Amino acid sequence: MKITYYGQSFVQLESNRNSIIIDPFITGNPLCNIKPDDVKCNFIILTHGHGDHFGDTIDIAKKNNARVIATFELAEYINKKGVEVHHLNLGGGYDFPFGRVKLTLAHHSSSTPDGTYVGEAAGALITMDGKTFYHAGDTSLFYDMKLIGEMNKIDFAFLPIGDNFTMGIDDAVKAVEFINASVIIPIHYNTFDIIKVDPEDFKKKIESIGKKCNILNPGESIEL
Ligand code: NI
Ligand code: MN
Repeated sequence: MKITYYGQSFVQLESNRNSIIIDPFITGNPLCNIKPDDVKCNFIILTHGHGDHFGDTIDIAKKNNARVIATFELAEYINKKGVEVHHLNLGGGYDFPFGRVKLTLAHHSSSTPDGTYVGEAAGALITMDGKTFYHAGDTSLFYDMKLIGEMNKIDFAFLPIGDNFTMGIDDAVKAVEFINASVIIPIHYNTFDIIKVDPEDFKKKIESIGKKCNILNPGESIEL
């Protein structure tokens, strides 16, 4: 199994037979060093509709014949563009061929790049090849993250740290206490000036509370 980070919130999870991508923002992402045509996947998970997450979803889904997993309104919007979807909603999970996806709360908004409002933003709990991943999407800190941590043994958590639109470093450190994941991977920072922070500062702070942080440079992978 392999995890790859491509900048902003774009994460790829690959097993022997499956490739799942989350929030594939490539066009307009200055940190992303691949092209939409380079992506091979069979499922796409979208946390919400904002352009820096929705990204190249339609193009990639059509080329790969991939199914998009998203909240009901966002899935409807995507389906109308001629893409296969699976509708989920907050708190609901489903067993897909590659593993289980359950959408969690995220405190944020959700509209598509053309301004259509598409319901609630979400995070995702993904269980694949015996590992559990938590992708928080865009969110503020919220106390129910504690419940997510209590009810799931999370191996890898992807948490936004860039401030302005989401949690900043100090709130994300608190989130790390709640989520209680084995390894934390910071996301949603340094793509644009307005979300510029020092991930080493985050790393230092969470190591001081005994947690493990793995900063991935865009394009970098972890083999499990
Ligand atoms: Ni957003
Ligand atoms: Mn965002």
